[in-house]
Amino acid sequence: MSSITDEVKSRLDIIDIISEYVQLKQVGSNWKANCPFHNEKSPSFMVSKEKQIWHCFGCGEGGDVFGFVMKIEGMEFPEALRVLANKAGVKLERQDPVLASQRTRLLDITEIAARFYHKILLESKDAEIAREYIKGRELKDETVENFLLGFAPRVEEAGWDLLNKYLVQKGFKENEIFLAGLSVKKERGSGFYDRFRGRIIFPIADLHGNIVGFTARVLPQFDDGKMGKYINTPQTMIYNKSQVLYGLDKAKQEIRKRDLAVIVEGNMDVIASHQAGVANVVASSGTALTLEQIKLLKRYTPNLALSFDADPAGDQASERGIDVALREAMNLRMIVITSGKDPDECIKKNPEDWIATIRDAKSIMEYYFDKTLAKTDLTKVEDKKKTAKILLGAIAKLADKVEQTHWLQKLSEILNVPEQILRDVLNKGKKPAPAETPSKPEAKPKTMDHREMELGERLMSFILKFPLNLEYAIHHLEPTLLPGDDLNELYKELVIYYTEIGELEFDFAEFRQKMALNNKKLADLTNVLLMLGDKDLAELNAEEAENEIVNIIKYLKRDYISREIKKLESEIKKADKDKNLSVGNDLIQEFNKLIEELAKLNKE
Ligand code: UTP
Ligand code: MN
Repeated sequence: MSSITDEVKSRLDIIDIISEYVQLKQVGSNWKANCPFHNEKSPSFMVSKEKQIWHCFGCGEGGDVFGFVMKIEGMEFPEALRVLANKAGVKLERQDPVLASQRTRLLDITEIAARFYHKILLESKDAEIAREYIKGRELKDETVENFLLGFAPRVEEAGWDLLNKYLVQKGFKENEIFLAGLSVKKERGSGFYDRFRGRIIFPIADLHGNIVGFTARVLPQFDDGKMGKYINTPQTMIYNKSQVLYGLDKAKQEIRKRDLAVIVEGNMDVIASHQAGVANVVASSGTALTLEQIKLLKRYTPNLALSFDADPAGDQASERGIDVALREAMNLRMIVITSGKDPDECIKKNPEDWIATIRDAKSIMEYYFDKTLAKTDLTKVEDKKKTAKILLGAIAKLADKVEQTHWLQKLSEILNVPEQILRDVLNKGKKPAPAETPSKPEAKPKTMDHREMELGERLMSFILKFPLNLEYAIHHLEPTLLPGDDLNELYKELVIYYTEIGELEFDFAEFRQKMALNNKKLADLTNVLLMLGDKDLAELNAEEAENEIVNIIKYLKRDYISREIKKLESEIKKADKDKNLSVGNDLIQEFNKLIEELAKLNKE
């Protein structure tokens, strides 16, 4: 690998990087978590600090820090390098051929454009009116800096292609500027003009802080009502609006710290909230929350507080987002703003109100109940029926049965209808479970071979963690009984080393060193197995581990014998069919012996 890669790796700790995506828990000298690459309930994803590698024992994925970032972000190597170099404080030469991917060119363009517009807002004479507007919205200088707000002047002052010209002069091609979403093709003739004019510019960053797109608000004085109040970069190679959350790069640490993500609708709401010191806030930017966005947030917390209007009966966009979040088993609360129309206004009136409003967020069901009941007259049968329908629909979406029962009871009290009747209605209306998202495969199904492989790996990991048990294993387990060529080979190596050196001199560290020098494959396997040991042994003491080892050896033997018995069975049948009596008798004798052995094992 190139030295720049090593340089970046040496300055980073894989634990820090992976912690940005999953919640790691320390076990021994390693760390574990639920695997972000497949669905699982108990953690089989391990990270080794010492080796700076990760491995999932559920889905088999593994690698170094680059592999992790590429996989979780869906990035190619050049981009992962860009992200990690940035974190490591390693400066990359722009001309570096490794980096010359189209995406990184576009990221350079958006970065330079954001700084260009920012400088105009701060310094240009043409931005006077924009600075007035910013002042009117009570944004401090440091906030403008922090969010890198900018201004694109009007055509009247700056012409049609101020940015385009600037970027061309910086060495970018007009077509690239267009691909970054910053210009528009002229309808007549050839050439391009700037997309944003006469607007405040809000750069949109991905969670690493790379600027990927923009949203731009028209200044009220220039609003001719023809274009939207806000216009956005279209979908580009680097900007997909369903995959970003405005402010996440600045909010993520705080979201993790407070174990809560507040989601608002507007860019200005995010900015005002951060300025008021409430920094665990991001915006969905006027669209329904998507599965991708929920998954981004899930890396930091399972708790979401939504600050937008949701109607339990409607098929509105926000409703879709809520459904997605519930399906992802997120805990949802709803923020109900009473002072002002949105968080920005609420904060402007009194920042303390915003803090209190977040604190008082209602659970989603409470919110649905209050909202629905506010609109109904329960003395009317029609209203009662409608309320039952709406709220049962909401209750049906809850993943947790206990929670469902809680709300069914509540609804039963309110409507004065027996709970069982409501439950019947609920079950009748049940839709089939939604299909799994294809992006997250289940762990491989456990076939017989797979189970044995697991047992074998588990056994070896225990022996490696507690080498004192090697002696017992040697006396009770033939190497051939261990599944998988590599496991087998590793076990043999261990046995050879043990036999050569003797029990007293046995030095596991020395064995590993020898392995590292002579057999890279087995050395890697040893590392992976040691991680597995940490994962599964964290809660066991030496004696429990020993029992496990005894049991696993028994299982492996039993599996082996059962397999041999099956083989013999079919051979006996064949001999029978061929009327080959003498062979048949030998086979039957062997068969009986194995049955006896199996019975003995089962009794032990
Ligand atoms: P709002 O209309 O609620 O605007 O749209 P706002 O956030 O309160 O904006 P200010 O306070 O008037 O400046 C909420 C969000 O929806 C998106 C923007 O991201 C906005 O922040 N939006 C809104 C658009 O994309 N286009 C529009 O025309 C309007
Ligand atoms: Mn607003």
